[in-house]
Order: sequence, then C-alpha cells, then structure tokens
Amino acid sequence: MGQVCARRGAGAWYSLCLYAVGGRPDAGAMTSDSNDTNNAKTSSDATGDAGVGLLGGKVVFITGASRGIGEAAARLFAAEGASVVLAARSTDALDRVVREIRADGGVADAVALDLADPASIRAAVGRVGELHGRLDGAFNNGAAVQQPGPVGSTSDEDIDRQFTVNFRAHWTAMNAEVALMRRGGGGAIVNTSSIGSRRANPALPAYGAMKRALNSLTETAAVDLGPAGVRVNGIAPGGTATRMIDEWEAATPGIVEGITASVPLGRMAAPREVAEAAAWLLSDRASYVTGAILPVDGGAGA
Ligand SMILES: NC(=O)c1ccc[n+]([C@@H]2O[C@H](COP(=O)([O-])OP(=O)(O)OC[C@H]3O[C@@H](n4cnc5c(N)ncnc54)[C@H](OP(=O)(O)O)[C@@H]3O)[C@@H](O)[C@H]2O)c1
Repeated sequence: MGQVCARRGAGAWYSLCLYAVGGRPDAGAMTSDSNDTNNAKTSSDATGDAGVGLLGGKVVFITGASRGIGEAAARLFAAEGASVVLAARSTDALDRVVREIRADGGVADAVALDLADPASIRAAVGRVGELHGRLDGAFNNGAAVQQPGPVGSTSDEDIDRQFTVNFRAHWTAMNAEVALMRRGGGGAIVNTSSIGSRRANPALPAYGAMKRALNSLTETAAVDLGPAGVRVNGIAPGGTATRMIDEWEAATPGIVEGITASVPLGRMAAPREVAEAAAWLLSDRASYVTGAILPVDGGAGA
C-alpha cells in the first residue's frame, strides 16, 4: 500500500494516500509520539540544543506557539538568541513553554491570541510593541485543519474557519507586524503554508485552497515590502508529527502510514526540523531571500 502513495506529486500524494490506504498504521509507522524513534537522523541529533546565535538580539513573534511546530520554533528561536513572544489560545500551554524557555536562560513572554478575531491579532502584536518596542521577526504559523473530505462534503462552517484562521489571520497579522517592524527599519516574516497547497488537494480542499492563497499573499507582500526592508517568505512543510496529524489520523485512519510511505526520506518531520527552516529564513543569513515558498517535506513534493 505504501508503494501506491510513494513518489507522486504533492496533490496526488494527499489524495492517493487518503483514498488508497486502509486500516490503522502498523507498529513501524510514525506518530507524533514516536517521532524520535524513527531511524533517520533529525536536526536536533545533528546540531544539539545549543544555539549558534542565529537570531541573536532579535524580537520574534510566533503564532501557534502552544504546541507542535510553533512550540518547537519558540524553543529553537530562543535558544538561537531571540526574545520570543508566543501566541495562541491555550494560555496554560503557552505559560508552560515560556516558563521552560526562561528556565533555560531564554527571554520569552506569552500573549493570548485568537486567529479568528482580527482585533485579537492586532492586540497581540500591540503587546509585542509594549514589551519590546520593536519587532524583527514574525512566524505566522498557527492554523487549524479541516474535517477531511472532498469538495462536495466540506461544510460552510469549515470553509469559513479555514478562511478566517488559515488565511485572513495572516493578512491581518502581517499588516500589524509590518507597522511595528517599520519602526526598526525592517524585519522578516515567515508564513507557514503546506505541501497541501501545491497541487489539487481533494482530501483537505478548503485547507489546501487557503494555504495556496497564503502563498500568493506571501509573494505579493514580499514585492510590496521589499523596499521597506521587510522580507516575506513561506515554508511548506510536509507531514510533521504534531497534533494536527493526529487529528487527521483520527478522522482518516491510515493517513500517517500513507504519508510516511510517500516521503523519500522515509519518515515524517519532527517539528524542530520545520522550525529550523523558519529560523534560517528569519535570520540575517537569509538576507537576500524573499518571496520564496520553501518546501520542508523530506522530498515528498519533488
Ligand atoms: N503537521 C503537519 O503535518 C503540517 C503539514 C503542513 C503544514 N502544517 C502547518 O504547520 C503549522 C503548525 O501546525 P502544527 O502541525 O504544529 O499543528 P498543531 O500542533 O495542531 O498546532 C496548531 C497551532 O495553531 C494554533 N491555533 C489553531 N487555531 C487557532 C486560533 N483560532 N487562534 C490562535 N491559534 C490557533 C494552536 O493553538 P491553540 O489551539 O492553543 O489556539 C496551535 O498552537 C500550521 O500552519 C499547519 O497548517 C502542518
């Protein structure tokens, strides 16, 4: 069954895996709890947890920081020298991560944020201004997954949620972030897209459409904001072992096995590996990169 999913284009990757894989993943399939047991080497294996100062002196705002890729990013960016401001709805989870970053010597704060509410987004970015007086980097990463299913079965409620949380929120956030970045003469933004944005996505059609719209916005903002010294890029992760994948697996048993089989590197990403790409794009080491949508997918979209 894994061969059915392997080595197809990104859209076919999702659709074939969704429709062709049956049953629960076998014991060797990766879940978010088993990620580190996979045989391929991860970036934290390769680099350890000690940072190299990639983001030293920068103030970075991170949405979706209560778990998954955003949480990993908050820990990584702080280890790389950034003062981080973590945002999501789950304030208990944010407070736990902030406490742990501070215990490791990092600088971190939390702010409550509902991506469905533009006023909440503006207030959260405003809080960054109160805390630090400036903003150097923003990782617009928070998102929700839709109920999997074809176009005809996607509910109006799901379409609205995908639009507000996965697309409009990032538009609103970027405008607020750029206003703060301009005070410091520029900055860098990274928006989290998805491999599911690249081609047809019959498994997650509203999610895929909003992620593709986000790619367009990312490219347009890069052109708009280049003269202001703000770089804007996107990352397009493939399957990454987080709660989002767990939710998809619960709705579509076997999807983890199918995704894993489609990845040339033979495993899903650890959240930290995706965060590493965002860290580089936010850093001055990516000073001539803007308007790019960088795949971070183990080769699945190649
Ligand atoms: N995991 C994958 O395989 C995969 C693949 C491609 C792309 N991505 C993308 O990667 C990003 C991170 O996803 P993940 O895998 O880390 O998922 P996750 O573990 O489910 O985390 C999602 C984050 O988004 C936040 N969020 C969701 N709805 C929100 C709302 N209305 N307001 C504020 N925050 C909200 C959640 O926080 P609260 O619930 O606390 O608010 C959580 O921190 C997303 O953009 C996702 O589309 C993931």
